[in-house]
Amino acid sequence: MKALILAGGFGTRLRPLSCTRPKILFPIVNKPLLEWTFERLANNGINDVILAVSHQTETFIKLSRVPRHGMHIAYSRDPLRKPLGTGGPIKKAQKLIGYNAPFLVINGDIFADVNYAELLKTHKEKHALATIALHKVADPSRFGVAELAENGRIKRFVEKPEREKAPSDLINAGVYAFNPEIFEYIPEGRKVSLEREVFPKLVEEDMLYGCVFDGLWTDIGKPEDFLETNKTLLSSIVKQQKLKTKGNVEIRSPVAFDKGVSLGEKSIVGPSSVLGRNVCIGKSVQIRESVIFPYTVISDFSTIDNAIIGENVVIGTNVKIAKGCVIGDHAKIRDNVSLVSGVWVCPAKEVSESVLTPKCIA
Ligand code: GTP
Repeated sequence: MKALILAGGFGTRLRPLSCTRPKILFPIVNKPLLEWTFERLANNGINDVILAVSHQTETFIKLSRVPRHGMHIAYSRDPLRKPLGTGGPIKKAQKLIGYNAPFLVINGDIFADVNYAELLKTHKEKHALATIALHKVADPSRFGVAELAENGRIKRFVEKPEREKAPSDLINAGVYAFNPEIFEYIPEGRKVSLEREVFPKLVEEDMLYGCVFDGLWTDIGKPEDFLETNKTLLSSIVKQQKLKTKGNVEIRSPVAFDKGVSLGEKSIVGPSSVLGRNVCIGKSVQIRESVIFPYTVISDFSTIDNAIIGENVVIGTNVKIAKGCVIGDHAKIRDNVSLVSGVWVCPAKEVSESVLTPKCIA
């Protein structure tokens, strides 16, 4: 079976971090999201993948050398400067997908413990044209919400309903099984929204089914989602929650350190923190509930709380970075600077004075 991964979006909500890498390469506990997806596909016996990308994303993926886990990879490119949305790329890839068998489509920006084999089994049993993996959440208002009939058919599909008006708590998990007839439902050569144009049509024709799964599900659409995805996964991977010390450094589990991380004395790291490759932490630094991308330096006496610090960032001495701050790659934060909650710093910017209101430093 083939799987098409949608990976050509701009990730505008994840700026400034997505200015310098596509969403699909964001690190989740120090491993690119794309690698997690490859692993899950391989575990489900799928090794034929089509990446629906923009030209830029294709270049990033090729340069990043993500381990393939045995995947055979083909690229289907959106036309230059003409994004095709979530539906158009499926039509564009029809020759690569073929017309003989059902196939999977996966949103590249989700982390979902979906059992692909089970999804496909349900899809075939119901003789569906399209089957959406559904996941139960507490607040469905940010997502596409499905109302199911008893036989698993989707009676209604509402995109981002008000909380009180949501027909259920089952959301579109961003993983689908389709029959090749789906190509006939997608207009050619333009941007098409699967959720707003194609699914409503399928509902009308009683051709859309849902398959509920439990497991872990998160998307990394916004910085807080990305941080939360790392925390959730970290706590499911790192089992021991007890406090450990290494020299006179305090490590509060769960934490993850990639290769080459160095920690200065009297620093406190964790809980719920991920440090990328070769991150260098000075003396008496405090880091909690944060993700630090590779090759970043955090100097003595600085504190980072619930923030995301990009790659190759240099943070000076006695810097304070508060909740919800996002620091773009290659930025420099000078000594004694404080950033209040909600400050975003664009890539390669230098900040030499404290920022006392939430804003984007561009
Ligand atoms: P935002 O700009 O922050 O909304 O991000 P996005 O457009 O990347 O995300 P959205 O949630 O709308 O997209 C869901 C999935 O579809 C993501 O994996 C995207 O990479 C992918 N996607 C969205 N638009 C396109 C597109 O025009 N072409 C391709 N090939 N993939 C897309």
